[in-house]
Amino acid sequence: MNVNRRHLMTGTIGAAAVAMVASACASEDGGGDGSGKKVGIAMPTKTSERWILDGNNLKESFEEAGYEVTLQYSNDVAADQVSAIETMVGQNVNVLVIAAIDNKSLSGVLAQAKGQDITVIAYDRLILDTPDVDYYASFDNTKVGTLQGTYIVEALDLANAAGPFNIELFAGALTDNNTKYFFDGAWAVLEPYVTEGKLVVKSGQTTLEQIATENWDGAVAQERMDNILSNFYNDGSKVDVVLAPYDGISRGIVASLQGAGYTTMPVITGQDAEVESVKYIIEGLQSMTVYKDTRELAATTVDMVVAVLDGKEPEVNDTETYDNGNKVVPAYLLEPVSVDVNNYQEVVVDSGYIEAEELA
Ligand code: BGC
Repeated sequence: MNVNRRHLMTGTIGAAAVAMVASACASEDGGGDGSGKKVGIAMPTKTSERWILDGNNLKESFEEAGYEVTLQYSNDVAADQVSAIETMVGQNVNVLVIAAIDNKSLSGVLAQAKGQDITVIAYDRLILDTPDVDYYASFDNTKVGTLQGTYIVEALDLANAAGPFNIELFAGALTDNNTKYFFDGAWAVLEPYVTEGKLVVKSGQTTLEQIATENWDGAVAQERMDNILSNFYNDGSKVDVVLAPYDGISRGIVASLQGAGYTTMPVITGQDAEVESVKYIIEGLQSMTVYKDTRELAATTVDMVVAVLDGKEPEVNDTETYDNGNKVVPAYLLEPVSVDVNNYQEVVVDSGYIEAEELA
């Protein structure tokens, strides 16, 4: 059963699995009768499939649990997200669930929210420099990078192969707290091979500032890859591997390489198991993605909210990693999974995350 993507495609609501998720949350906590309490959900953008799924899953799960929901997307414009949240505060929501566009832009509006005793959950992306965030629900973001780095090491057999292999590095938006965790996780695995000389970054671009991608935008990544190819690979040399943090960026990089005449793609990583990228994996255009089950993240978030509004302590499994500059935010972190052509069927199709016909 795949409620998420069916909703994405048809916009229908109320499917059984979401109801199951919601009622499971409700019964576990012995409450969950939202009784008209209001939840404001602020998502970053509809340009990426995952946030549409997150928004739909959250909205439906909260509604099933009896909450009234306002869901807003802000097209990756941080100021618009601040305004959207201000409106929700004005509507006297009881809870805010926020996937921040700019992790440092929300202190003002969250102070207002706290003034009204609104519970604030940082969803997927930590919100920085404010005391006014209560909990964080996400995945193990360092591990996302570890999985990408490890995939590269294994795909090139770096333990045994002499190399050298040419690698180029891409990271996400600097306004997203996850960006650093993803890159640090991957770099910890890859850097020793760069030091050893088995991996060579011909562009020399290795700092987060140099490799970041504004708004996680695939077109921005494509343009940067175009520049790298024309400036550093104009001598007949080839790129063997690209560390890419997110599927939309991976596809931008593939477009650039195709434009430059590559018929066989380098090893290219990704994240989110977007349908288009799983298709690329099957076609051999992208090597892997990191799957994060957004259904589980929505269920975890609903659990947290139900507990808090019932006056209970929500379950967390990390009270050390996520210091937001003001305090360590208690977190519940889920496990990401590495997916390639060998296990996509089992992990993303058999689990119902993507329907087989979407990949046809
Ligand atoms: C999320 C990733 C996503 C990226 C771009 C990050 O904060 O954790 O899953 O690929 O944003 O939307």
